[in-house]
Amino acid sequence: MLNSKAVFLVLGATGRTGRHFLSLVLENGHHVRALVRNPEKVAIQHPHLEWRQGSISDDDKLDDLVRGVDIVVSLLGNASLQKQEKINTQFVKRLIPAMRRQGVKRFLYQAGGFTKPYKQRLPLMTWILKNTMARSRGLIGQHKDNEAVIEYLVEEAPDIEWMVHRAAIISDGPSKGTLKRSKTRTGLATFGDCAAYNYALVMDDSALHTTDLSCYSK
Ligand SMILES: NC(=O)c1ccc[n+]([C@@H]2O[C@H](COP(=O)([O-])OP(=O)(O)OC[C@H]3O[C@@H](n4cnc5c(N)ncnc54)[C@H](OP(=O)(O)O)[C@@H]3O)[C@@H](O)[C@H]2O)c1
Repeated sequence: MLNSKAVFLVLGATGRTGRHFLSLVLENGHHVRALVRNPEKVAIQHPHLEWRQGSISDDDKLDDLVRGVDIVVSLLGNASLQKQEKINTQFVKRLIPAMRRQGVKRFLYQAGGFTKPYKQRLPLMTWILKNTMARSRGLIGQHKDNEAVIEYLVEEAPDIEWMVHRAAIISDGPSKGTLKRSKTRTGLATFGDCAAYNYALVMDDSALHTTDLSCYSK
């Protein structure tokens, strides 16, 4: 278990999961550094929150971004760009060496419920839904990008305390309960519940080097 008061770097803090995650981490008394491309999207100010303007494509600022951080959390996505380019993989391949240089160990990456785990197949029904529903919504590229991130973490980052959440999110409505880790079951979650799950997951040493799904406890 990590120090109960940590410094988080949140990537994607202006996104649908990121907004909830940011509030939750601050409510729990941690310090947060958050990357924002467009300052107009800065929704909250807090004494323990530092906004840094920039993009994950800014090479030169990466060491500075991770310096002094305990935990890095990626809630990044850009589905239209990910149709052509593995932007998250390109970024993670630069992020992990920067984390090593700055002595930062822990990293949570949110992927999707249709993202394949490393060297495994999806269950048939999930595969069918991926190739109908996710394909029609233009999300195949995003999952391919997520899969390449997982491959890189498994093959080239065994020294990093990483965990991947393969989240299945459906709405931004009120909480539907508490998500727990599962190898086989998935819950159609809210963004808020996913954020709460991510917070618990990143503090959980038993989740290191896992790429599990999440589902609601009964
Ligand atoms: N949405 C779903 O239903 C769903 C379901 C399951 C899994 N997931 C996974 O969860 C992840 C996050 O999804 P989400 O829906 O919460 O995200 P989202 O609402 O699409 O937000 C994406 C975040 O990434 C940021 N971002 C994109 N490109 C960036 C760049 N070049 N530099 C800095 N920041 C950048 C965005 O910043 P801006 O505000 O500047 O655009 C935004 O904060 C995705 O990778 C996806 O695979 C999503």
